[in-house]
Amino acid sequence: MRKKVIAGNWKMNKVLADAESFVEATKNNVPSADKVESVVCAPFPYLHALVKKTAGTDLAVAAQNMHYEESGAFTGEVSPVMLKDLGVSYVVLGHSERREYFAETDETVNQKAHAAFNHGITPIVCVGETLEQRESNQTMDLIADQVKKALTGLSEDQVKQTIIAYEPIWAIGTGKTATSEQANEVCTHIRKVVAEAVSSDAAEAVRIQYGGSVKPANVDELLAQSDIDGALVGGASLEADSFLKLVEAGT
Ligand code: G3H
Repeated sequence: MRKKVIAGNWKMNKVLADAESFVEATKNNVPSADKVESVVCAPFPYLHALVKKTAGTDLAVAAQNMHYEESGAFTGEVSPVMLKDLGVSYVVLGHSERREYFAETDETVNQKAHAAFNHGITPIVCVGETLEQRESNQTMDLIADQVKKALTGLSEDQVKQTIIAYEPIWAIGTGKTATSEQANEVCTHIRKVVAEAVSSDAAEAVRIQYGGSVKPANVDELLAQSDIDGALVGGASLEADSFLKLVEAGT
């Protein structure tokens, strides 16, 4: 039985005071981490404060991106060493907004996944198709390609620990959720791709989230699907009450 993981991706939202009050309101009210992993993916400037505030609680903190190098002349970047030093436990990699606006590629996602594991950080690897790709029946091939490239060279054990987030780009921030059947169909496909590329044990263990207009009203149905092991939530994760409802649904 795979434990569900619910991650709230704040994207580029909130000022420090809002981030801190969100964490104060949620950190002692999320379910036990034995039952569901509750994660907030915060902007870089808040990570230090939020990791300190959540120490000893069941609320974990994630970064929304990182560089794959440990240090060096990469102005404006943040390294896995820095994240680990702060106590960050997860990192979102290859979000479609990073791919679209910041030239993230399958190759850099793969380099970052290796770097995350080298530093004991769990990667949440995002994959997903555009509406145009879905309408021209490219979804399954494209997703298989993204998944295989992201996982290239990882050990079986690392793949088992990876979280893959399936986010159809046409459903992000649009209010258009994939139906639970559409979402599960692709998540089942991802598990099959992992079985073929790595092993059936890895496919059984890897956790696959769905993301794209998830909210308290539709989360139960999505999480009830056979191959959906959690959610990566943008808009509906910004308010503490809504986030608490989402993580509760994962228990
Ligand atoms: O990372 C989260 C996703 O991009 C989904 O965003 O829940 O606002 O559609 P959304």
